[in-house]
This record gives sequence, structure tokens and C-alpha cells, in this order.
Amino acid sequence: MTDFLVKRDDLRECRIAESEAIELEPGQALLRVDTFGLTANNVTYAVMGEAMSYWNFFPAEDGWGRVPMWGFAEVERSEAEGVEPGTRLYGYLPPSSHLVVAPARAAERGFVDASPHRVALPPVYNRYAATAADPFYRPDTEEIQMLLRPLFYTSFLVDDQLADEALVSRGPILISSASSKTAIAAAFMLAQREGVELVALTSPRSAEFVEELELYGRTVTYEAIDSLEREPATYIDVAGDGELRRAVHSHFGDALAYSMAVGLTHWEELGGGEGELPGPRPVFFFAPDRITKRSADWGGAGLERRVADAWHPFCEWTAGWLEVILGHGFEAVRDAYLDVLEGRVAPRAAHVLTV
Ligand SMILES: NC(=O)c1ccc[n+]([C@@H]2O[C@H](COP(=O)([O-])OP(=O)(O)OC[C@H]3O[C@@H](n4cnc5c(N)ncnc54)[C@H](OP(=O)(O)O)[C@@H]3O)[C@@H](O)[C@H]2O)c1
Repeated sequence: MTDFLVKRDDLRECRIAESEAIELEPGQALLRVDTFGLTANNVTYAVMGEAMSYWNFFPAEDGWGRVPMWGFAEVERSEAEGVEPGTRLYGYLPPSSHLVVAPARAAERGFVDASPHRVALPPVYNRYAATAADPFYRPDTEEIQMLLRPLFYTSFLVDDQLADEALVSRGPILISSASSKTAIAAAFMLAQREGVELVALTSPRSAEFVEELELYGRTVTYEAIDSLEREPATYIDVAGDGELRRAVHSHFGDALAYSMAVGLTHWEELGGGEGELPGPRPVFFFAPDRITKRSADWGGAGLERRVADAWHPFCEWTAGWLEVILGHGFEAVRDAYLDVLEGRVAPRAAHVLTV
């Protein structure tokens, strides 16, 4: 077994570790990790590893963690009923050569990992979808699925919630880290709604790329927040930058209709801008919670169908600009991780790693 490990209390320290082969117990299956995407979203899993239990999905030796990734794996061996070797799966994976799971509710569409250490974690992360029966799956879009599927799912739900709460027509919607894939997917969905005005907030280095997307009505760099008109507005915060949040809240004050905290791409600036914020209290958006709500409203299959229907056109559009950086082996995983951690990846690009 090979693992890529990150020091939990210093995310810049990382190493590749070898360990003994694993013996399966009855009811378990061994997945061979094939390939996964790596974006700022995965760095956020590490940043929030303790606070939101992301380190608990794939336990590692003391003080170290395996950063969760989204990708494809194949069943290598199985002692679990209804889980056949050779089945290709999409799901939440460690940056490791292998993963042991304890499949439950195995069916044509896949299974849930019911390993005791995962039972209390949000169910959406424990599901492994068999590609043969997956409405999102197309063999020619595997790279985009690994990179964008979980982000698109989030963005679909952000758009859905803003529409549900009548926020899409209450003045402009400002999105920070507008160059991130999550922000782009949210903008893609929102832009399809009548009368929506989208304002991209981004860094100077990402501004040209954001404009070229022709998705947002206007692109404003972080230091130019004051150039925006003070009017009712909604803030979708993907950057998580404390000082930026304060600048937006101070500028709009009580005119800010809603402030939604979605991401932490600026993970080293979380602590800035402390003290009481003008305007509404930011509300943390957690996709798994919204999935629970919409699964209750529409049924699990109903939600999947709606997201999958919206997903395919997004996939086609993204293929026109996304540059996939392919890497092979664990050293490539380490290099890609450090590049994403340090914000060295161009917004048009994203890493796909095969181990
Ligand atoms: N709440 C939820 O349920 C949920 C679900 C999914 C994703 N998310 C969050 O959404 C965020 C975006 O994820 P993604 O995978 O879409 O990101 P991504 O595409 O990898 O984002 C790239 C952009 O993020 C900014 N950035 C990245 N690294 C940075 C660094 N080290 N320092 C400063 N800026 C940096 C830059 O944007 P700018 O130049 O435009 O600032 C960069 O162009 C993540 O924090 C993720 O966790 C939240």
C-alpha cells in the first residue's frame, strides 16, 4: 500500500509512505484507487480536517492525514456480497493506492461504505456509484467528473437555494474567488435565470480569465469593492478571506440581503477582518445539509436526476476552456498538492492524478 500523507498541524509538510498489504475481513472489499482530481476544494478538506472531521474518513498514523479526493476506483478483491471484482466506481477516495470498504446496500448502482469510522459522517461522502448505472457517468468525461462533479453539485444547490429564497432578483449577486470552479459552476447555473446580475470578485491575476468566460456581467478585483454601487446585493463567499468579507459587508452594510459562506480558497486569510460585521450574519452553506433537505423534498432519485440533467450541458461548456494537467504516481500527487495549496495553479487549469 502507498499513501500520500499530510501533517495535520502543518499542511505544507507531506510525505509518501509505504505499508503492508491488507488482509480483508468478511464483508469487506478492497478498492484499487485509479485516478482523482485535485483542486482548492481538497485543500479545504485539509484546512477543515479537524473542525469538520474530514480527517476521519481515511484514518492515518498519528498526527498525519489522508486528504480526501473525488475520483474513480476499481474493486480489486471482494469478500462482500453483491460487490464484484472489476466494478468501476466513482466516489470519495484517499490519495492512496488502495482503500478497504465495508459495502452495505450493495446494488446495481453501487454501495455505501458502512465502515464503523465512517457511519457518523455525512452520508453523501460514503456512497460509491458504479459507473455502469450512474446517470452522471460518460466514459469520455471522466476527467471533468473527477474535477467538477462535487463542485457542480454544490453550485446547483447554491443556485437552487438562492432561487428558493427569492434572492436571485434582489439586486446583484457577488461571488468571491469568482475564478474557482465552484464559483464558475454557480454562475453558470445562476446566469440561466431571468434578470440575474452577476458580479465576479477576484484577484488581479485571475481577472482576465474570469472576463474571458463571459459568464459574469462584471468583473471587479478585490481592492476595488468600493467602486460597486451601494444597493441590495447578495454575497456568495467562496474565498473565505476575512478582510474581504469585512470589506464587502462594510461597503453594503444593511443593504446586503444575504451573505453565504461557501468556501475557503484563501485559506491563509481566514482569520482576518475580525470584530462585529455590518449587515447580515454570514450563513455557512454546507452542501450535504442541502442535499438532505432536497432529498426529502424531491426524493434521492429526483434530486440526482435534476442535478444530472443540469450537469451534462455544464460538462460540455467546461470542456471548451478547462485545461487538465495530468500527473502519474505519488510524486506527482505531492507536487500537485503543494501547487494547489500555494495557489500556484492557473484558474483555467486543474490537476488529475493517476496513481
Ligand atoms: N460549502 C460547501 O459545501 C462546499 C462544497 C464544494 C466546494 N466548496 C468550496 O469552494 C471552494 C472552491 O473550490 P474549487 O475546487 O472550486 O477551487 P479552485 O477552482 O481550485 O479555485 C481556484 C481559485 O481559488 C483561489 N485560490 C486558490 N488557491 C489559493 C491560495 N492558496 N491563495 C489564494 N487564492 C487561492 C484563486 O481564485 P481568485 O483569484 O479568484 O481568488 C484561484 O483561481 C473551496 O474552498 C471549497 O471547499 C464548498
